[in-house]
Amino acid sequence: MQDLKGKVAIVTGGSRGIGRHIALQLAARGADVAINYRSRQSDADEALKEIEAKGVKALAIQADLSDMSAARSLIQQVKEQWGRIDILVNNAGITRDKSMKKLTDEDWNEVLDTNLGSVYATCSEVLKTMLDQKFGRIINITSFVGQAGNFGQANYAASKGGIIAFSKTMALETAKNGITVNSIAPGFTETEMLAQVPENIREQIIARIPMARFGQPEEIARAVVFLAAEGDYITGQQINVNGGVYM
Ligand SMILES: NC(=O)c1ccc[n+]([C@@H]2O[C@H](COP(=O)([O-])OP(=O)(O)OC[C@H]3O[C@@H](n4cnc5c(N)ncnc54)[C@H](OP(=O)(O)O)[C@@H]3O)[C@@H](O)[C@H]2O)c1
Repeated sequence: MQDLKGKVAIVTGGSRGIGRHIALQLAARGADVAINYRSRQSDADEALKEIEAKGVKALAIQADLSDMSAARSLIQQVKEQWGRIDILVNNAGITRDKSMKKLTDEDWNEVLDTNLGSVYATCSEVLKTMLDQKFGRIINITSFVGQAGNFGQANYAASKGGIIAFSKTMALETAKNGITVNSIAPGFTETEMLAQVPENIREQIIARIPMARFGQPEEIARAVVFLAAEGDYITGQQINVNGGVYM
């Protein structure tokens, strides 16, 4: 199905993990896709080839999105190259896990700037284009941790809870202009982010998940593509794709 043909999508952190699957599934539906990455160029090159193999245009843009001016520039570069932006997926994110007793101001700022500051900056920049087009689909990747909290993740939980609240507010402000803004809240998903967790803790995590397994990045990507392609009357929502870990 090529129902996104002619649409332009940006996926932040689209070089690997969940973001790469989102980029590939958007491309498979016909969208031209720009991915962004921070430092691992070989992953971005590989993702670029996989996107192009779907028969669409692809771009890979290096930008450290914890810097708001770099985040704005990412949006501007895609607009300059392809003339429009229909779909923005804010997926780039990091963890710096420590309990509150050990958490530093640096850990706090790094996570808040990367996970939440970048969402504000890209959304604010893309808004002008989407208002002119009277069309836009913004999908922000949050986490069940932003709903439930999680031991050792005060910084991450605050950033992800912030994304949910931010998305609802932007949805309210843009609903009359053909723009929808939603969040997807994954549960524990099998990527490098989860691979950082020691094996004994992984076992404890699986014991907490009603479906008794981790999510796959493809499963998160399917929900994103649903919102982008078929979510015309869905805005201001958070959709949980989490195996039941938070209900
Ligand atoms: N995996 C999970 O269990 C899980 C659960 C809930 C929510 N999530 C959320 O889902 C999203 C994707 O997670 P993932 O597991 O796929 O992560 P991942 O495998 O660690 O990939 C992270 C991606 O984000 C990019 N990135 C990181 N910091 C960046 C920065 N400052 N500027 C630009 N790009 C940056 C990375 O680029 P480089 O490779 O160049 O560094 C990479 O492309 C994140 O927002 C995460 O919080 C994940």
